[in-house]
Amino acid sequence: MPDFQAWTTRVATRTEQALAALLPAASIAPERLHEAMRYAVLEGGKRVRPLLVHAAGVIAKADPAVLDAAACSVELIHAYSLVHDDMPCMDDDTLRRGKPTVHVQFDEATALLVGDALQTLAFQTLARPGLLPQPGTQVELLHDLAVASGSRGMAGGQAIDLAAVGRQLERTELEFMHIHKTGALIRCAVMMGGRCGEPQALPVLDRLDHFGKRIGLLYQVIDDVLDAESDTATLGKTAGKDAAHDKPTYVSLLGLSDARRLADELLDQALADLADLPRAERLADLARFIARRRF
Ligand code: IPE
Ligand code: IPE
Ligand code: MG
Ligand code: MG
Ligand code: MG
Repeated sequence: MPDFQAWTTRVATRTEQALAALLPAASIAPERLHEAMRYAVLEGGKRVRPLLVHAAGVIAKADPAVLDAAACSVELIHAYSLVHDDMPCMDDDTLRRGKPTVHVQFDEATALLVGDALQTLAFQTLARPGLLPQPGTQVELLHDLAVASGSRGMAGGQAIDLAAVGRQLERTELEFMHIHKTGALIRCAVMMGGRCGEPQALPVLDRLDHFGKRIGLLYQVIDDVLDAESDTATLGKTAGKDAAHDKPTYVSLLGLSDARRLADELLDQALADLADLPRAERLADLARFIARRRF
């Protein structure tokens, strides 16, 4: 789509503004925690999850202001997951989004609290009274984000990731890990967008759910590929760390070219999921972007 780039810039800009307004100012006590929260969230990241919320919201003709709240809530959970993922007790990384990681720039205890506070800010944002005209739908969104973030979602996937260091997982185990640690929030972003607007028929929500599941897995397959194939300057995070830390990935299981082939297959299946949906071009463009991204 010729205007895809302009659309992503527009959505990323409004997301940045909404996040900046949601996060307490660094001048408000406790200043250091607020400074670190803003450092973790603002001016960085591709904002893929907010883009997915807005793209799915186009299908449901959702109010962009409502989508902003859903988009910010999922991005805040994602930012918290990155802060904790980088800590010495997890992946022990020093670079994120082209900057020193939060525990390096601040300290470990602050990084822990940044994660805690971003997580609750996410739910505070989505729970805003009156955000959606139907309170029941709003409760469903809150429920879905909680499940996607918790032990049956992202946090659970992260636990499996840590337990798998030094072992090669079976393909089904690796898929399970990826679908949880990364896929759950991506899938949730798509479903939130689809639920924010006009009520959708069950088959439409079902298609969106399948699409979200596939691009969630695709997202982490490409993350594995880029870790092996790209360089630190391009990624804004340390390249080659999965092999260095002996992590099971789709690259260690299949090799680079078969991992890329799997990503292409997942993209084709994801695009097929969207085939009969109205106003789905943005989501299709995003799926292609996710498969072809360079960082
Ligand atoms: C990195 O996510 C970690 C994963 C869950 C794969 P992103 O690639 O979306 O990171 P940012 O938000 O753009 O920095
Ligand atoms: C991250 O997976 C998944 C999260 C829930 C944050 P990775 O550990 O591969 O993410 P990067 O490569 O550090 O961004
Ligand atoms: Mg990790
Ligand atoms: Mg990591
Ligand atoms: Mg990675």
